[in-house]
Formats: sequence, C-alpha cells, structure tokens
Amino acid sequence: MTEPSTVDTGTGYGRKAPSHNARLTEVGPGTPMGEAMRRYWHPIASSAGLTSDAPHRTRVLGENLVVFRDGQGRPGVVFERCAHRGSSLFYGRVEEDGIRCCYHGWKFDVQGHCLEQVLEPDKGLRRDVARQPWYPVEERYGLVFVYMGPPDRKPALPRYDCLEPLEDGEQYYADMPAPGLPPTGLVADFNWLQLWENTIDPGHVAWLHSQHSGQQMQGVGTTGTPDNFYDPDLFPANISYAKTEYGTRYEYRYLDKRETGTGNELVYIMEQHLPNVFTLPDFVKVTPDARPDLVLWVVPSDDTHHRMFFSLRTSDPDRLGRFAFGILQNGKMPWEMTEQERQQFPGDGEAQESQGPITLHSEETLATSDRGVVMLRRLLNTMVDDVEAGRDPLGVSRVDEQPRHIQGGIFTAATADRAPAAAPTTEA
Ligand code: FES
Ligand SMILES: [Fe+2]
Repeated sequence: MTEPSTVDTGTGYGRKAPSHNARLTEVGPGTPMGEAMRRYWHPIASSAGLTSDAPHRTRVLGENLVVFRDGQGRPGVVFERCAHRGSSLFYGRVEEDGIRCCYHGWKFDVQGHCLEQVLEPDKGLRRDVARQPWYPVEERYGLVFVYMGPPDRKPALPRYDCLEPLEDGEQYYADMPAPGLPPTGLVADFNWLQLWENTIDPGHVAWLHSQHSGQQMQGVGTTGTPDNFYDPDLFPANISYAKTEYGTRYEYRYLDKRETGTGNELVYIMEQHLPNVFTLPDFVKVTPDARPDLVLWVVPSDDTHHRMFFSLRTSDPDRLGRFAFGILQNGKMPWEMTEQERQQFPGDGEAQESQGPITLHSEETLATSDRGVVMLRRLLNTMVDDVEAGRDPLGVSRVDEQPRHIQGGIFTAATADRAPAAAPTTEA
C-alpha cells in the first residue's frame, strides 16, 4: 500500500462532543445563571395589553406562570398550576378581587391568598393552607415587571434617566404595532444570550445588515446613516468597547459627509446594563445629540426560548414604526419571506436562530471583533460568581435611587458631554 504524502488536517472526524456554557445560558431554578437572574426585576407583560378580560400564560426563567389584572386593576403573577389539583389557571376567570380556577372554583388574589373554595363548607375553613405561589409585580414605563428571587433580597425596581420624566405630549409604548399579539410578547426559539450578545456585536451591522444581505437598515443615505457607516474595512479602527457603571457600552465612530461635505464625526452608542437591559438608537431617522428614548430587555423564557420587551418614550407616532420595522430583508418583514428569500437575504433572526437552541461555545473561534461579547460574558460570569458568594450582583440596589444613566444614540464626537440622557432642565 502506498502511503499518502500529505495527511488532511482540520477535518470533522473525531472531534470531541460539542457543549454549551451552561453557567451563562441555563436559567432554571437552582442553576447559577438562573439564581443570578432572579436577583433582578424582569418585564413580563405590557401594561396597556394586560386588561381584566382574560389571564395570559407565559414562561419566565423556566417557570410556567399566569399573569392577569384583577377587576380592581391590580396586576398579578402566579404559578400556572392551581394549588388545588393542578389545572391551569389560564383557563380560569378573572374577577374583581382575583382569579378563579375553572376546575373546582377556587379563587386566588394577586398574592396567591385563597379567597374562596366554593365546594367546601363555609367556602373553605382552611383556605389559608392553599396559597397559590405568586411573585411580586410593579408597573413602570408601560410595563409590568416581576421579581422571582429570594424575598429578602428583593431590589428596588431600577429607573432610567432616558425614560423619565415624560415630556409634553409624550407617552410610553410597550406593545409591538402588530394586531393580535399577547401582552406577554413574542417568543423566539433560541437561548436569550444569543440575542443579548448581539447588542454588543456591532460588527454584524457592517456585514450581515449591509454587505451580505444588501442594505437592510432603513433610512440609509437619506435620513439615516451614510454608506461608510457600513464599511467593514473601517470597522476595526472605529470601534471601541468599555465597561460602565452598570455594564458595557460600545462606541462606533464614523464620518457623516452628507450635509457638510467635510466629514462631521459622529459616534453611534449602545449600552448594556446587567443582566439584560440595553438601548437602541433611532437608526432610521438619525437626529444627532438627541436624548435616548428606548430601553429594551431580553427576558429568558427558558433555556431555549426568550422574549424581548421594550419601553419607548415618544410623542412621534412614527417612532414606534421606525423601531419595529426599521430593518427589512429584501424589503420585507421576516414573516413575509419564503424560505428561499430567508436564505438569500438573512437577517438577525436567521443568524441568531441558526446558532442553535443554545449555541455551542466549545466550537467557537473568538476574534478581535468579539471583544465586546467577551467583555459582556466576563461581566455575566462575575455576576454569577457574586450571587454564589452571597454578594449582591452589579446593579442591584435595595433602596430607591435616582434614575440610572443609560446611554444610546448618535452623537457629534465634538460634543464634550455626549450624555443627554436626562430630560433638559427648565431652569432659566
Ligand atoms: S384544580 Fe383548581 S380548583 Fe381544583
Ligand atoms: Fe442586527
């Protein structure tokens, strides 16, 4: 037999079984990240969409929950399984003071107290032992937030300087402008960290959203960003990442030559606050040096699903559309595309969903354009370490505090303080 002169390298044969980083991705009760995430408040529904008409079922951090608003207007979050014999409270009825199970009529209030056991003598002499597990909720910025962690570690619900106060004529928007969506939001079929990391991966804008699939960001060249914003060759020199008080931020510098011809230097900024909060500038109708108006949350449903929530502060009726429909694929929204079009013009959904239900971290090859992702993962690791060591993780405060500074937008580089996140003062 003749020996080959060269042997192939890098083939797929004999590789070790791939694996994901469970410490960063898995969120069920008792897992390291699950416990860390349970030290923060998370949006669970939009306030406007949560009416007293019917309960909604959802899934957060691997737990099946029902969210409802009782007839007195109080939002409630309880386990989906009835404390009696396990029927789903999704089939229950919302009443003035609580939710009533369909099976035997037990009624629970927003804190899980059993108010009535209709088949029992005197409507239940031992109602007190039938507590429906519940979680505390608070409403702010047009969203209902839930806290699912240890009661003695419950933090104050954070406030953000870009979302308050409302200026004249403004209101909060927290529902996608599409009919028929539940107030609990749309579920995406992959791990939350894949979307969360995308928020500090601006390189994908310079490739996926422009070079690979054609220009997908609406407003480019007219009201939006100029062509050179998407130039992959300029990317390495113009991007920078930094740690901030509450997480991370990236700044991407580019020259805007459209108006002056001389090259006005602008900076595109997005910021991420632990564990899952981020900003997104108006990239469709660029107004340099404007106050940010949009905060978003990536909320894990379980290990392989997540939902995105947002609060938008605006008086401009078109702003919600620019955010919700600002990225088109071949001129279409994702649900309008054929499989062939999705292959030809992939966008965020295709790129992130195809990483897998949970991406395989053992198979990654990280490079310099992943510096932000690495920075974020390190912070998340520290967050998990802190909780395991009995410390409060970054950004957790038990006292009501001033609104936090969170930056996001497009700013003139010459502006000394690119931080108009707070409302302008009215002092003379
Ligand atoms: S299972 Fe809910 S009342 Fe019996
Ligand atoms: Fe994207």
